[in-house]
Amino acid sequence: MANQAVTMDKLVALCKARGIIFPGSEIYGGMGNTWDYGPVGVEIKNNIKRAWWKRFVQESENSFGIDAAILMNSRVWEASGHTTSFSDPKMDCKACKTRHRADNLIEAHSKGKVNPDLMSNAEMEAYIQEHHVCCPNCGNFDWTPIRTFNLMFETSRGVTDENQNRIYLRPETAQGEFVNFANVQRTTRAKVPFGIAQIGKAFRNEITPGNFIFRTIEFEQMEHQWFCKEGTDGQYYNEFKEKAFRFLLDLGFKEEHLRFKDHDKLAHYARAACDIQYLYPMGWSELNGIHNRTDYDLSRHQEYSGKSLTYVDPMDGSRYIPYVIEYSIGADRLMLAVLCEAYDEETLENGEVRNVMHFHPALAAYKAAVLPLQKNLAPQAKELAAALRKRFPVMYDEAGSIGKRYRRQDEIGTPYCITVDFDTLTDGTVTVRDRDSMEQIRLPMDSLAAYLTEKCSF
Ligand code: GAP
Repeated sequence: MANQAVTMDKLVALCKARGIIFPGSEIYGGMGNTWDYGPVGVEIKNNIKRAWWKRFVQESENSFGIDAAILMNSRVWEASGHTTSFSDPKMDCKACKTRHRADNLIEAHSKGKVNPDLMSNAEMEAYIQEHHVCCPNCGNFDWTPIRTFNLMFETSRGVTDENQNRIYLRPETAQGEFVNFANVQRTTRAKVPFGIAQIGKAFRNEITPGNFIFRTIEFEQMEHQWFCKEGTDGQYYNEFKEKAFRFLLDLGFKEEHLRFKDHDKLAHYARAACDIQYLYPMGWSELNGIHNRTDYDLSRHQEYSGKSLTYVDPMDGSRYIPYVIEYSIGADRLMLAVLCEAYDEETLENGEVRNVMHFHPALAAYKAAVLPLQKNLAPQAKELAAALRKRFPVMYDEAGSIGKRYRRQDEIGTPYCITVDFDTLTDGTVTVRDRDSMEQIRLPMDSLAAYLTEKCSF
């Protein structure tokens, strides 16, 4: 069962009220399906990216990070197949002029019993006719034929109009990793198997974006390509499935909110593919993907670039194009899952309801909030906050009752509230309140840094 406390409306409202995520370009009336991360949200998202990088790059003996350009030579997208086949089947409702994905219409109409991934465009059109699938917006049955719609955003470069070249905003970060395979291998002297990872923006002109930050037109991906020898690919595919699942459990996800879903239809070059789905408020939906892409990507780039991407094994001199196990997860989609998983409304003994975000402390925007019990303790409390800020993001709050200040921190998931009171002046100790249990302990100020380090590490 999904987290019952949370709905998308409540989450959007909390995110806006507490500086986590704002609607994009809001003062101009917004720009559909774009979102801006606020002061709290950017810290949480950065922590998500840090945790991922630590697990998949820093802690991996043979994985290396890069940061490739968003704009790439257009031949990259020809080689990868994106210019010809990175598209969705779209249909327009002639009555209300809204645009829809034919596959989504079929999935919704059949309540998930029919899998449109296995259908051609003609078969999808026939299904929609036969089952009289109406427009979900206006209820009419007046469709255009299916047209294939490429999802890449185009732009152009060149100083004069006559000299313009069509280029694309990358729709995935993965190609930056493939085209740098030889550079990374040469400069790190890595032996296969090894990995290349990066975190960066991707752009897709989605036909049906929505569900807050679940599907947007601009988003961030965290992708890791594992280059290995054919024959070992099956073992590494299973290892990455396991590692990807373990990462989510370690971030605090409940196991019953996660599941694997094998793809019913594989790309012609792929050997295996699955998603990990999360039980979002709108139902089970893809959180990340793990794909065995064979030697397709490097072979295509070798063919289109004319540069050798063949690996020479230093042990036996054999030459081959490595296979790729890809693990790909959206930073924003993971952020949404983290927010949904953390959200809670607790009824306290006095009947009050407390809104609390139970983030893993490593993901929380602020590791602690320093609160003077009374305003005349502000100088000591500010001094403590300044000292702790050299090590962690720390909030300072002196406005309102101590109870109200606790609630504000609970709502943004600050794991510890540190109260400076009159005893602090004599014995140098403070009260440390735990966000989840609300229990309080007394600690010497000079032990706080070690305490927070231990509690907030990932
Ligand atoms: N390189 C492989 C690749 O891009 P994908 O399944 O299209 O595969 C990988 O995307 C991940 O990126 C998804 O599992 C999801 O987490 C995220 N993602 C994809 N499209 C997205 C969108 N429009 N908005 C937000 N996240 C998206």
